[in-house]
Amino acid sequence: MTHILVTGGAGFIGSHVTSALLAANHDVSVLDCAHPAAHREPPPAPDGAILHRADVRDRGAVRAALRGVDAVVHQAALVGLGAGPDDLPEYVGCNDLGTAVLLAAMSEAGIRRLVLASSMVVYGEGAYRCERHGPVRPTPRDADDLAAGRFEPSCPHCRQPLTAGLVAEDAPVDPRSVYAATKVAQEHLTAVWARECDASVAALRYHNVYGPRMPRDTPYSGVAAIFRSALAGGRAPRVYEDGGQVRDFVHVGDVAAANVAALGAGRGFRAYNVASGRPTTVGDMAGLLADAFGGPRPVVTGQFRLGDVRHVVASPARAAAELGFRAAVPPADGLREFACAPLRG
Ligand code: UD1
Repeated sequence: MTHILVTGGAGFIGSHVTSALLAANHDVSVLDCAHPAAHREPPPAPDGAILHRADVRDRGAVRAALRGVDAVVHQAALVGLGAGPDDLPEYVGCNDLGTAVLLAAMSEAGIRRLVLASSMVVYGEGAYRCERHGPVRPTPRDADDLAAGRFEPSCPHCRQPLTAGLVAEDAPVDPRSVYAATKVAQEHLTAVWARECDASVAALRYHNVYGPRMPRDTPYSGVAAIFRSALAGGRAPRVYEDGGQVRDFVHVGDVAAANVAALGAGRGFRAYNVASGRPTTVGDMAGLLADAFGGPRPVVTGQFRLGDVRHVVASPARAAAELGFRAAVPPADGLREFACAPLRG
């Protein structure tokens, strides 16, 4: 039995990770500051875990929380698009300064095993192939194209339509938002730390996570929470673009299982996609939720957000081969359950 510290362990994903670690017979401590961007009210201590109510940027508190700990699962972060440039210092503070403080305190305490909550947002656009030019990086999306309803990225050489493929972990990073940039920086910081300290870091690149206790719609929410909150309020989910954009929706219980598995990762830094392996279009996901909830049919609006990427489809192969992790919940089942599961206030 080992003692694990879960930062952000009172949050949506962190609380599921905490439960999964306890179920796997680990001792668990939680460091969580109940950040107002994530919590309207301070959440209770997860049953069976020791709660340290403190910020990951607070070196003294982190040092105290690390006493007797063997490994850290680092979930504490500000997520999503945020409210605008005003949020920049808080994103960088929570996500990058917080990680730096944690790594320094872990070295000091001689702890050399870390699982990092990363994200598929580090990739930017997914992987694409041109029939004539092979694998290509599409040109950035153009506002005029999007306004004219041309949503599919085209080949940078011949402008022909591309076919979306699977993104593997060795794809180049291309952060398109402040949040994405902070996740790339976390990966780089932990990779340097792993080398310098001969430590183990598994960076789990979560795809689109959903499930029970997901927070309600806020500027920091992903699309599953936004649609689910709309349905709960009696409104139709509003699907942007033409609804054909593809994502991989992965159940939070599977994400928690991936974290438990990642504690067994080898030395050095290694990134892993954490995905269901069964991609879905955003339009289909909205339809599935609306049907299961018994709410109004989704409306496809043709609206767009310039910063959005079109398709991100993960290859789950590396996590399966190296961590033995395979998602157990098919999105069709998990989303049906999510349609009626409680959201967090
Ligand atoms: C999301 C999160 C990201 C997280 C990642 C993996 C945001 C902004 N992005 O990235 O933080 O790390 O998943 O879990 O939170 N859409 C609609 N209607 C809406 C809102 C969105 O159709 O009301 C569409 C968007 O245009 C986009 C897709 O849904 O095509 C996904 O949107 P979203 O969940 O916000 O962003 P991701 O890029 O998937």
